[in-house]
This record gives sequence, C-alpha cells and structure tokens, in this order.
Amino acid sequence: MKDIYILAIETSCDETSVSITKNGTEEISTVILSQMDIHKQYGGVVPEIASRKHLENITMVLEETLSKAKMKMTEIDFLAVTYGPGLIGSLLIGLEAAKTLAFIYQKPLIPVHHIAGHIYANKLNNKLCFPLICLVVSGGHTDLIYMEKDYSFLKIGGTLDDAVGESYDKVARVLGLNYPGGPIIDKLATKGQDTYDLPLPLDDDTYNFSFSGIKSAVMNLINNEKQRGNKVRVEDVATSFQNRIINILTKKTMRAVEEYQVRQLLIAGGVAANKGLREKFKQLCAKGNIALSIPKIKYCTDNATMISIAAYYAYHKGHVANLEISGKANVSIK
Ligand code: KG4
Ligand code: ZN
Repeated sequence: MKDIYILAIETSCDETSVSITKNGTEEISTVILSQMDIHKQYGGVVPEIASRKHLENITMVLEETLSKAKMKMTEIDFLAVTYGPGLIGSLLIGLEAAKTLAFIYQKPLIPVHHIAGHIYANKLNNKLCFPLICLVVSGGHTDLIYMEKDYSFLKIGGTLDDAVGESYDKVARVLGLNYPGGPIIDKLATKGQDTYDLPLPLDDDTYNFSFSGIKSAVMNLINNEKQRGNKVRVEDVATSFQNRIINILTKKTMRAVEEYQVRQLLIAGGVAANKGLREKFKQLCAKGNIALSIPKIKYCTDNATMISIAAYYAYHKGHVANLEISGKANVSIK
C-alpha cells in the first residue's frame, strides 16, 4: 500500500505549528513556534498579537518543517488544518496558508477539529480500543467524550463555565504567578500540604464540570488571609487547589468508564501534562484494570502533529473541505 503523508497546520491559539506525519501514526517532522514569552508579559494570550505573529512566522515554520523532513510539497498527499475552535484571527492565518497550498499543489484539504487533534495525539504512543472514554482537559475545554469507533465523538459532559486549564491560569494569576499557570501550580503542588478548605467543584450526578466557584473560593481565601494579616502559603494553596481538581476530574471520569463499560481511557489536552493528574489516573486505572493512554508531555499542549494524525482518520471518514472553508471560533466536536 502506498504511504500517505499529511502536512498539517495548527494556529488556533498562540503556537504556530506545522507537522508532517506518515500513515496516521508516525511523526516525520514537526516545528512548533511558541509565542508564550510575548504573551507572558500581558498575563494571557492577546488575540491581535497572536494572529500578527502567526502571519509573520507561518512561512518560516512551514519551510523548516519540510526541510527537517527532507521533503518537497509535491511529495505530500494531503493538507490538513485546524478550522476551530480557537481564536478566530489566529485560525484564519492557518486556514489561508493551508488553502493556498491546497490550491497551488492541487491536494485535498482535510479540516480538523482542534479537540479531535488533542484526542488523536494518543495514537502516537498507543492503539485505540473502542469503545472508549476520553477526558479532554485544556485551556479552552473540559469535556468527557464517548467514542464508539474511530472519529466518532459523543460528548457526555463538559464545563458549564471555565475550562480547567483556564482555572489553573486564573488561580495562578491571583497568586501572583506567571502565565501559563498550570505547569507552575503543578510543580508547587508537590511542595505544599492540603491545608486549605476549598470546595469540591460540582460534585453531582452529571458528567458536567464547573470551575468558576473554586477560582472564587481561592480569591476569597487570599483576601481573607490578607485582611487578617496572615501570609498566604502559596504552595499549600497550590496543593489544596490541585487536589480538588484531580479529585473531581478522576471521580467523574472513572464513573463514566464504569457506566459506559469501556476498557480504555484516554486523557488529552494541555492539562493532561499535569503530573498529579497523570499519577492519579495511573493508580485508578491499574486498580480497575482499565487501559490508560496519555500522550507524551510534549504532545499534550498545542502542536500540529496531533492535527496531522487526526486528519488521517478524518479523511477515512470522508472529511474533505472545499476552499471556501472558514474558521469557527466556537464549534462542537461531532
Ligand atoms: O491544550 P493547550 O495547549 O491549549 C488549549 O487548547 O487550550 O492547553 C493549555 C492549557 C493552559 O491553561 C495551561 O496552563 C495548561 O494547559 N497546562 C497545565 C499543565 N501544562 C499545561 N495545567 C496543569 N498542569 C500542567 N502541568
Ligand atoms: Zn489545545
């Protein structure tokens, strides 16, 4: 069978990334240009700056990816691109680049949902065994998804307000920590003790999540401590906050695994890089005899490799875009 090479572009937030993969499992070359250092000084991603930087960098990132792979555009079989969800100005830069290449080289263009990309990052190190449950935890999403077969997504729960990564970043901000706060809180959480009385967020019978309450609870706690003239123990806040987050994510996810009677659990998205979360899922899945798949840390946060891998399966499901396709800031996974 002929090998299939897919070149994918991902620009949904603040990473300009291009990747070439082979046959839906093998990474050939990837370049990720992060704008983190630029946005850090503003305490979060500034959409206008993000799209301007994507525009400045996309050609260079594309050329470097091809050069690292020692390949020419004519050797690529398909193009793929993230069409949403994400920052609209950022998405449009990737889409225009992909559409232009598809037009010039007369290649099919595969549209990929960003969350499908995060889920399919798991294909880089594991086989998917259907049916399965996937927990997607990122800066923009907290979703529980049931997959009966390849590239079929049924959302069984999601966040009612903030995404879990967003709540990490907001809590970090009130603690005076840098952006992105997730990795910093994760590190601090290993040094502190669970001494602060924070609520378990939305501990109910649904598969939904809510993280705005715990964020407010952290804010109140800091204000109260300051008013009383007490020093806020940042490490202890980090441990207490992270423990509550891990507890609710693992509790609802393991309940879904049981109710839907699946034998495999996938974790995906930027927050899947969280050491505490990875450890807790490993323990629970080992105990319940559930096959657990979590991408390597470098594939948890945004990258075009995952988009390229997902595109292979999207294509086999008949997902091909015409050149009128536009970006979608909000679009649910289907
Ligand atoms: O998937 P991603 O790169 O971008 C989105 O699609 O949103 O996720 C970024 C999010 C940020 O909120 C960041 O703070 C969080 O993932 N994150 C973490 C960790 N590493 C990244 N959150 C908790 N613990 C981590 N180790
Ligand atoms: Zn993402």
